[in-house]
Amino acid sequence: MSNKNPMIIAHRGAKGMAPENTLAAFRLGLSQGCEGIELDVHLTADEVIVVCHDLTLDRTTNGKGLIVEKGLSEIKNYDAGSWFGDDFKGETIPTLDEVFKLVPDTIMINVEVKYSYEGRMERKLVEMLRRSNRLNNVIISSFDHKCVRRIKQMEPEAKIGLLYQSNLLDPTAYAHSFDVEVYSLHPYFQLLDIEDVRKATENGLYVYPYTANEEKDLLQLSDFGVSGIITDFPGRLKALLKDRDS
Ligand code: G3P
Ligand code: MG
Repeated sequence: MSNKNPMIIAHRGAKGMAPENTLAAFRLGLSQGCEGIELDVHLTADEVIVVCHDLTLDRTTNGKGLIVEKGLSEIKNYDAGSWFGDDFKGETIPTLDEVFKLVPDTIMINVEVKYSYEGRMERKLVEMLRRSNRLNNVIISSFDHKCVRRIKQMEPEAKIGLLYQSNLLDPTAYAHSFDVEVYSLHPYFQLLDIEDVRKATENGLYVYPYTANEEKDLLQLSDFGVSGIITDFPGRLKALLKDRDS
């Protein structure tokens, strides 16, 4: 059992209570005391990095079609809040730049790259992290491990994380098999056991499981000694940790 509290990471913002990946969801996460924010990125036709989980606009906006086929000005016309609730009408898909402006640099931002767009995403992201001076408090993760490896090769100061949802025999050994430094492991939370966490953290890797929401899971992961927990309910995790510590 670990005494150190895990970092509270708001999944797509406070996704359980606000429309995912919008500024409203990030603001809510911050107001609930999150210490990190996880978000997903795609590229527009005019090569702007925007924050959205899906390749298309269909599920989370009143628009339709592939993000990569639309320019930013068109994307900004669509409502990304109403599908979740009338209170959020008028939210739009934010650019990553807008999120960087909103979120203080004391908060860790976990940028999950959903798609490489033939390497254009990696180039744009590295350029942006350098320009905005965010290399230090951003972790770039992906299920595409070759993509994060390319990012680390382009920018040695970048922190990269490996997302996975398969039952790896030895996640630490896998991370160490890379020819670049891996910063963190991002396993699906139900695949994690305490031995994986112990070995990873003893070997200098951070462990950020996703996406746990139930109290029993949040408490168990905390007891495992994970570095942070990605959750749709950052306020719930904050209250649980407070109770546990009192
Ligand atoms: O980064 C953790 C988690 O967000 C990965 O899955 O589908 O929610 O982006 P998904
Ligand atoms: Mg994600």
